[in-house]
Amino acid sequence: MTYAAITGWGKCMPPAVLTNADLATFLDTNDEWITSRTGIKERRISHVPLSDLAYVSTMRALACAGLDPADVELIVFGCCSYDDQVPNQASGLQAQLGAKKAASMDVNTACTSFLYSLSTAAALIRTGVVKNAVVVGGEIITAYMDWKNRGVAVLFGDGCASVVLQATDKEEGLLAEKLGCDSDARSTLVVEGMGCRYANQGRILGHTNWIFEGPEIFKRAVLGMSGACADVLEKRHLTADQIDLVIPHQANLRIIDATAKRLDMPMDRVIVTVDRHGNTSSGSVPLALDEAVRSGRVQRGQLVLLEAFGGGFTWG
Ligand code: UT7
Repeated sequence: MTYAAITGWGKCMPPAVLTNADLATFLDTNDEWITSRTGIKERRISHVPLSDLAYVSTMRALACAGLDPADVELIVFGCCSYDDQVPNQASGLQAQLGAKKAASMDVNTACTSFLYSLSTAAALIRTGVVKNAVVVGGEIITAYMDWKNRGVAVLFGDGCASVVLQATDKEEGLLAEKLGCDSDARSTLVVEGMGCRYANQGRILGHTNWIFEGPEIFKRAVLGMSGACADVLEKRHLTADQIDLVIPHQANLRIIDATAKRLDMPMDRVIVTVDRHGNTSSGSVPLALDEAVRSGRVQRGQLVLLEAFGGGFTWG
């Protein structure tokens, strides 16, 4: 049987930092509210296109794996804030890398785009379609932010991370996944202005209006992620105490905490980066994974549980 091992990882964070105090200079908000409701202290704002962040994070991941860009067979780019809709984000990365042999596709499931991309790439490796893949999760969501809306402007930030997957006979890498979508409540998270539905309405491109019902999203996030985690544990006949580390979507510290409680997982086994990154959408899980590996929190042979939720509502 063929498995998909994670053999490389890399990230690229834009250098410009936007703190809670900075936000309070133009929004009716304050550090105390943002910190106590979300755990976020600061986030990054990119001055370059997403393709540049992705090029750097992917070159780092390829160097880590010892894989030549010319030998990459597949690029799956998870995001919803593309530089361009056509041509797609993955083909731009293929060009920058010189990865001429790589099939190149984008996957958009909002904040879960990285997990959906990881699962897609792993499936194509397991079935022998390709032998390796680059999987990217990255976003410049601040380009679509409504900076007058304090309910959302304080939550999000930019960033990008990549992993390399390679085929192996050893039972390692991605062992089980559960993906799902709860579309009943999809109208509670809508970025109006992102999409051709808004054409010919006299709108200025990038001027968005966010419909964002925070408490409803919060509730569904906890249920979606804890349900998906329980499902993969059951698939592998594991209990929560056998999991070495949880790497959750970094949207809100209270969501991370509530999901951990439902899983009976102590917070010292949960990676938290939301304080420094905010919610980077599809960048969130691979950025936290990269930090966890680099800081030594992930060791060879450990069991790691990744969880995310996003607009749609998608979860995994
Ligand atoms: O990746 C998917 C993304 N989605 C999410 O992660 C969002 C999930 N939801 C959440 O994280 C939380 O619901 C929020 C952080 C968005 C909001 O926290 P909450 O505890 O659910 O607050 P709330 O929406 O119930 O708002 C409480 C109050 C309101 O004032 P009133 O009506 O009670 O007077 C808001 O107007 O807080 C006010 N408020 C703010 N005050 C200061 C909302 N945003 C701010 C702000 N600064 N930035």
